[in-house]
Amino acid sequence: MRVGLLTGGGDVPGLNAVIRAVVKRGEGEHGHSVIGFRNGWRGLAQGDVMELGRSNIRNVLPLGGTLLGTARFHPHSSDGGMEEVMLTLEAERIDALICVGGDGTLAAAQKISEQGVKIVAVPKTIDNDVWGTDRSIGFDTAITIATEAIDRIHTTAESHNRVMLVEVMGRSAGWIAAMSGIAGGAEIVLAPERPFDIDQVIKFLKHRHRSHASFSIIVVAEGAEPAKGTAMEYETQTGRFGDIIPGSLSERLKQVIESGTGFETRVTVLGHVQRGGTPTAADRILGSRFGVAAVDAITNGDSGVMTALVGEDIRLVSLPEIAGKVKHVPTELLDIAAALA
Ligand code: F6P
Repeated sequence: MRVGLLTGGGDVPGLNAVIRAVVKRGEGEHGHSVIGFRNGWRGLAQGDVMELGRSNIRNVLPLGGTLLGTARFHPHSSDGGMEEVMLTLEAERIDALICVGGDGTLAAAQKISEQGVKIVAVPKTIDNDVWGTDRSIGFDTAITIATEAIDRIHTTAESHNRVMLVEVMGRSAGWIAAMSGIAGGAEIVLAPERPFDIDQVIKFLKHRHRSHASFSIIVVAEGAEPAKGTAMEYETQTGRFGDIIPGSLSERLKQVIESGTGFETRVTVLGHVQRGGTPTAADRILGSRFGVAAVDAITNGDSGVMTALVGEDIRLVSLPEIAGKVKHVPTELLDIAAALA
């Protein structure tokens, strides 16, 4: 078989583990040829190919990013994109496609599979918001980085008696905020799932600083919002792909908190640091398991499915079933974050 492989959307640490597993298992066990497309769906539309063999995957496990490159390009929302993709698939004689991505890539995979292309998807996003899987590749590395950052911010917060706002990624779901907030011992976690009341935040900070502490750490997911009808007015600032302008919410919160409490406040936006560098062992293992499962699924003739971690098991879930859904942080986790304030 000639198996096509692409990584789409924002990069995450752990993508190279998937590529390595697809090549090793695909070539070694099943005798497939693996054809990589550079820069996600754009490479597939433009016929930008790269034959993948053992020499390409040597020593890639510790490397962040993706050796195939990636892009935010969706063929179904670009003029003529779908036709170009179909032409390349035919020209390259691709029998089946493995695409690794988040919500945008999975939506594209669903559209392409509707055209009769055999396709298996693999979920990756540091946001961990892909429906149907307990974990997406990249999330574990992101919370590890965010937790370390919170630990470091603790000492400077305490020395200066400040309120520190740590902004983490998470457009529609606050997984990074909730998990790193719990692991790092943040006083407040603000997540999209639970719109906040700024008056409550200010009241909490004043009480804490009056009674037993002179500093506080607030972890803010970039997609958090004030509850409707509460005192702070704010509209989420977004870019071309629905990406949130980094720091916009935190800078606004800083002003409101300083004027409401009188406490000196500082902002740290972790940004792309959360997506960079070497993947954790957990992400390398998950990427490897997903890569093997994807190429085995393709070989068995499965199509229109995504690899998923469910409990301890790797399963296949149907793409139409997960399309358009967001996996939100459960109330229990947000309650734990609040209870440990
Ligand atoms: O892929 C998800 C994500 O990490 C979001 O949390 C964030 O809003 C976005 O990517 C940033 O995208 P870009 O790298 O295109 O700026």
